[in-house]
Amino acid sequence: MSRKPLISGNWKMNLNHFEAIQCVQKLSYLLTKDDYAAVDVSVHPPFTDIRSVQTVIDADELLMQLGAQHCHWEEKGAFTGEIAPAFLSKLNVKYVIVGHSERRELFAETDEMVNKKVAAVLANQMTPIMCVGETLEEREAGQTEAKVLGQVRAGLAGRKADQVATMVIAYEPVWAIGTGRNATPEDAQAVCSAIRGEVGQLFGADTAAAVRIQYGGSVKAGTVAELMRQADIDGALVGGASLDPDEFARIVNFRNL
Ligand code: PGA
Repeated sequence: MSRKPLISGNWKMNLNHFEAIQCVQKLSYLLTKDDYAAVDVSVHPPFTDIRSVQTVIDADELLMQLGAQHCHWEEKGAFTGEIAPAFLSKLNVKYVIVGHSERRELFAETDEMVNKKVAAVLANQMTPIMCVGETLEEREAGQTEAKVLGQVRAGLAGRKADQVATMVIAYEPVWAIGTGRNATPEDAQAVCSAIRGEVGQLFGADTAAAVRIQYGGSVKAGTVAELMRQADIDGALVGGASLDPDEFARIVNFRNL
């Protein structure tokens, strides 16, 4: 089973809608049809930018895909400040990041909330990018697999194999996010392989072979190629480096590095 690589740019709380348009246009000049044939590319701007970016993608018939960083699981109602999944699908959002470690740590998102969001994103015909990862403390205590696989089980509970097969799981060690520190390709591969093994246990071999697993945490043009050579790493979730179109385009081009 061949899994098309997915390189995603998570802009976090950066770039207003004017800056977002510039960033996407610049990126579009740097990427070729061949790039998109080889790699799926998604950008995940802040909510206030999404409509503007969608308009540019549509008008210029760009092949990059639109993503969001977060959503609520309810369809509508008294949830001040929240965004419903259907609002995103209406804007042609294809991928929604769910359970990013910053959401878990800074905004108290629990495994249970992540589970509901995964279900809601799937129910709205979008693809969840479900983030999992251990803290430095957990890693040093030898709890990496227990933590990560626990998050995988909790996030996917109640889902069907054919749903999970369409999903993306992002392994992002918390200590590597925004710190300039990378897991070694071998360490990242070991955890991604364990994640695929767990998906296989829960949903069967075909689902494990189909699910895409990204690595994230300080991915740069200088480190992406070696990560992407690992058997169970199918893409990258890129934060800081995705704000620079030149650097992000080089990352998308990992196969030529
Ligand atoms: P980073 O962020 O590349 O800046 O470490 C990755 C992420 O949080 O998705």
